[in-house]
Amino acid sequence: MATPAASSHPVEAGALPDRIRHRFPIFERRLYINSCSQGALSDAVRAAYEQYLDDWDEKGAPWEYWVERGEAARATFARLVNAAPDEVAVTTSLSAGVSALASGLRYARRSKVVLTDWEFPTIGQIWHAQESRGARVVHVPEAADGTITLAHFERAIDDDTLLVSITHVCYRNGAKLDVEPIVRLAHERGALVLLDAYQSIGSEPVDVRALGVDFLAAGVLKYLLGSAGLAFFYARRDLVERVWPTATGWFADRDIFEMDHRDYSPSATASRFQSGTPPVPAIYAGIAGMELMEEIGLAETREHVLGLHSRLLEGLDGLGARVLTPRRPERRGALLCVASTDAAALVEALERDGIVTSSRDGNLRISPHAYNSAEDVDVVVETLSRHQELLARGT
Ligand SMILES: Cc1ncc(COP(=O)(O)O)c(C=O)c1O
Repeated sequence: MATPAASSHPVEAGALPDRIRHRFPIFERRLYINSCSQGALSDAVRAAYEQYLDDWDEKGAPWEYWVERGEAARATFARLVNAAPDEVAVTTSLSAGVSALASGLRYARRSKVVLTDWEFPTIGQIWHAQESRGARVVHVPEAADGTITLAHFERAIDDDTLLVSITHVCYRNGAKLDVEPIVRLAHERGALVLLDAYQSIGSEPVDVRALGVDFLAAGVLKYLLGSAGLAFFYARRDLVERVWPTATGWFADRDIFEMDHRDYSPSATASRFQSGTPPVPAIYAGIAGMELMEEIGLAETREHVLGLHSRLLEGLDGLGARVLTPRRPERRGALLCVASTDAAALVEALERDGIVTSSRDGNLRISPHAYNSAEDVDVVVETLSRHQELLARGT
């Protein structure tokens, strides 16, 4: 691994990684700064997986307990986003929850679904799939300056709009939408709002009531430190029974133990957006990850990450790198994206130096989290300085 570059910065923002980094063994071997893809494995999540295997081995088929673990996961996520547990569905992916919603909407009285061009592919694909059921999908484009302003939404949202489906933070460029004004506008015009919070959840406080969104979907894989296989779908209580999912399964039933194959009676709670057997191993891990992030603190993490961003931006500017993520802190998530002449080669070059990052859309993605330190940032900048030919220049 490269040695840290000398820095004139005081050791600000060191308290958080000092306190928690030892719980993430990967840092003994690598500099992990890729939480936009996957959170680092903690001792708590490893122990949770071991506990799952022990419980399976010792008890055989403790399904009552496993269902109870699912309820604990639901309650933990609900607490994180300031929802009630009966407004939260436990799903196996963000896509599963959004698909259940899409299957339950009727595109008759209002038919338009408004998306942005910042959406993760799954969102676009799910809404375009509804075109065969009468939906009309309209994309809000990015402006020349790389932003999506409210004016763009004002043009797209009208009295035929059923739903506005927006990402909180874009997975490709790290830009963050100003959600509240979009929600206000949508509601004024009678439309509902779904927020894809996968790239923000766990990296900062996310509050469904403060944001005013009607639906929210997110998983635990990234900044919530869990693993693949567990996600959640929030539906505001008064909307739950207005949606009749047709993509469904027995864990969406009003009584899963009724075992009635001659009837469909979805739960009166957000469980109606669920499907089949819950992802028990991922639930153990997800609870451990979410509780660890609660313990670390979401507001503290956000402040810490913005501190690391300042240092990183200064270093990147010094290298003449082109940063695609907005400069205003309130307009970005935890992810910083850097233009590259060959992003795959740059990710590989960093990997050879023991630094784990990722790329999308031709850009390098650097995504610090609570466990990353100022020294990590200096190492990344120093390593990039040795691969300048892979950095794209100019504006
Ligand atoms: C913004 C965003 N939405 C959705 C997803 C994917 O969600 P899932 O695979 O759980 O359906 C990702 C994963 O990278 C993402 O970054």
